[in-house]
Amino acid sequence: MVHTSSTKEIPVVGAVPQHIAIIMDGNGRWATKRFLPRVAGHVKGVEAVRGVVEACIRREVKYLTLFAFSSENWRRPAEEVSLLMRLFVTALDKEVSKMHANDVRLKVVGDLSRFDEKLQKMIIAAETKTANNKGLTVTICANYGGRWDIVQAFNRLQLDVKGGEPITEDQLAPYLSMAYAPEPDLFIRTGGETRISNFLLWQLAYSELYFSDIFWPDFDATSLDDAIKSYNARERRFGRTSSQVMDQTS
Ligand code: IPE
Ligand code: IPE
Ligand code: MG
Repeated sequence: MVHTSSTKEIPVVGAVPQHIAIIMDGNGRWATKRFLPRVAGHVKGVEAVRGVVEACIRREVKYLTLFAFSSENWRRPAEEVSLLMRLFVTALDKEVSKMHANDVRLKVVGDLSRFDEKLQKMIIAAETKTANNKGLTVTICANYGGRWDIVQAFNRLQLDVKGGEPITEDQLAPYLSMAYAPEPDLFIRTGGETRISNFLLWQLAYSELYFSDIFWPDFDATSLDDAIKSYNARERRFGRTSSQVMDQTS
């Protein structure tokens, strides 16, 4: 299915965002505040993921995209990186059948070639198992970077297209790693930082941004509803004037 591009056509927007993208930040600080090792925060963070996935299913959100590990997170101490990888394996092991039972389609996007073979195989198996599910699409962005995405899209396009014509937005967009999803309506970052950190650079062009001071492990269904409430109070203009938007909805 081809989704509309917010820079080409004005999308139809409803009260429940179709696509919510989240930077799940603040695990380390959550743990440090409790005199616990950072890893305890990551473990708690996986529980928060479970809660938000369930809340999105109940609210009939169609796409939930979670930034789990950035292309820059390899810069962290080796011990923390390997712990995060092990957590990823355990979470896949534990959660995939539950997700499958809930009609969730699971996708993992990012440069997966840097992960060990066992993890890569588990990812492919989980994606294959849930590929035909029709409920919520959960995308885990792992070793993902917005710049990596644009460059890989361009390189794949180059392989397909002959001739030296300059490329257009419409040509590049289908090659982005999340071309299967509409652009996020609502972007959430927890943990108090107000930056994008190389997340969905292209796709966030017209997303509504919501920043929360809550550390990710404490983010729950009520916090999600607060974000959706704030989203509903916004006027999404997509370049138009306010009166044009009012004319359209009246
Ligand atoms: C987000 O929490 C999880 C990952 C980046 C893997 P952090 O680990 O960045 O937590 P803080 O920002 O240090 O508190
Ligand atoms: C962004 O968080 C990446 C993830 C949550 C996976 P970071 O904690 O890595 O971001 P910075 O370093 O504060 O920008
Ligand atoms: Mg952080």
